[in-house]
Amino acid sequence: MAGFGNPTQAVYSTVRELVENSLDSCDDAQNFPKIDIDIQNLSADTLTVTVSDNGTGVPPEQVPFAFGRVLYGSKYSQQQKRGTFGLGVTMAILYGQITTDSPVVIHTRTETSGGHLYRLLVDVENNLPLVEGKEDSPRADIGTTVSVQLKGDLKRSQERIVEYLRLSTLSTPHAEFTLRIDEDTQLEIGGWSKTIPEPIRPAKPHPRSVDMEVLRRLISKHGERNLEDFLCKSFQKIGKRTASRFLRFMNFSPSRIVSDLNRDELSHLAHALRKYDGFERPDSRCLSPIGKNEFLTATRSVFNVELAEYASLGVNEWQGNPFVMEAVIATGDEFPQSDIPTLFRFVNRVPLLYDASDGILTRALKRVNWSRYNGTTSEPAAIFLHLCSTKIPFKAAGKQSLASIPEIEHSSFQLFRELGRKLGRIKGKSKRSAREMKKMREFSKSLRQIARFGSALAGCDDVPPTDGIVKQLFEVRLDE
Ligand SMILES: Nc1ncnc2c1ncn2[C@@H]1O[C@H](COP(=O)(O)OP(=O)(O)O)[C@@H](O)[C@H]1O
Ligand SMILES: [Mg+2]
Repeated sequence: MAGFGNPTQAVYSTVRELVENSLDSCDDAQNFPKIDIDIQNLSADTLTVTVSDNGTGVPPEQVPFAFGRVLYGSKYSQQQKRGTFGLGVTMAILYGQITTDSPVVIHTRTETSGGHLYRLLVDVENNLPLVEGKEDSPRADIGTTVSVQLKGDLKRSQERIVEYLRLSTLSTPHAEFTLRIDEDTQLEIGGWSKTIPEPIRPAKPHPRSVDMEVLRRLISKHGERNLEDFLCKSFQKIGKRTASRFLRFMNFSPSRIVSDLNRDELSHLAHALRKYDGFERPDSRCLSPIGKNEFLTATRSVFNVELAEYASLGVNEWQGNPFVMEAVIATGDEFPQSDIPTLFRFVNRVPLLYDASDGILTRALKRVNWSRYNGTTSEPAAIFLHLCSTKIPFKAAGKQSLASIPEIEHSSFQLFRELGRKLGRIKGKSKRSAREMKKMREFSKSLRQIARFGSALAGCDDVPPTDGIVKQLFEVRLDE
């Protein structure tokens, strides 16, 4: 029961899984996400978590499998998504079922269906949905409401949930969240950005990202083709020329029919696809970074920030999966004072709150010699790091920290140093301009006095203005 190890984490994980699905669905609907989280205490240790969204809704015939079967997901395509492989909401539903013996309630409406209400359980032995009740139940708006009853410790998880939602508005700045506990509104937050991110384009898999499972899925679709056609049809970055060069390299006849290949040949093919270095880099249009302006605005909206700088690295690749890293470094009294900036981690726009010390990102952060960068250690600072990729290499199914991937660790190290340099530079600049201001004030005071003395000496009543001279002098100097 990864992520549901104790009653505190269970409540938090339930909220998180439901909210993630809602946000993914709003991405599909291409709208401004408005997500309500309602938590009702039923007794000292039992509660109901209800999350309501304005996403696409779920077609009624898909509801039982989407919610009542472990590892049933609709997100297998190569594109940035919060969900991974259908291990999210069903875990929460199962945990609820095991601890309270209650069904999950789903109320949903799509563009074409008027509204349906389902009550279902998971048949654990067979991994199949058990529909307890199903009725037509009109709802005014398109979207989905999911309600899970579970045993958990709300008191101890409340702070985490609030933190999670606040940080979610930082990584999805066009979303709004309302958190209600026993009818009382605890938090209304978000809507920092007034633009909806560009739609993400699903891509075909990159040949270097292939494993036997992906290969099998592709063969079930295009297995009747010959090898050359199969490669061109199934993968990104393979055209006829690349395909024939690759097949020559691995000694395969281009006209072999793919479904005729035996197990060893398939495994050889998968291996060669991963190793061949003649393929271009993976497509990055299937990624959705937050972007400079949105990221900075959201950081300033959520935290009391004094200085903030953004940096990002271009597209990179780990095992055929494209990834982009971007980050904001900020200073402000709200962050803890420390020798190294406090790290806030985000992957595919999801904030990670647990196991920070465990991962490669924290390791990279600690490797940076922060004292080299002017000012990053003298004042409380924080770094908000966002990694987006078509696949996130989580260390464990709890999805809280990253496994050791050298390319990602190296990139984060580079990005941290770039942030250090940038912050150092603006700190230097603001220190310099403070010095300049002080000089300007002194100059202007002295010049006024000289003007007064000069006028008195010349027997004039009018004292000539000096402000213009000071301005000219300092503008020129600052420009230099
Ligand atoms: N709020 C929602 N709106 C639309 N679809 C949803 C929603 N919640 C769940 N689903 C569907 O149920 C599937 C299973 O969800 P989940 O178990 O969390 O897996 P994942 O998010 O990893 O795909 C999703 O892939 C999606 O198709
Ligand atoms: Mg999910």
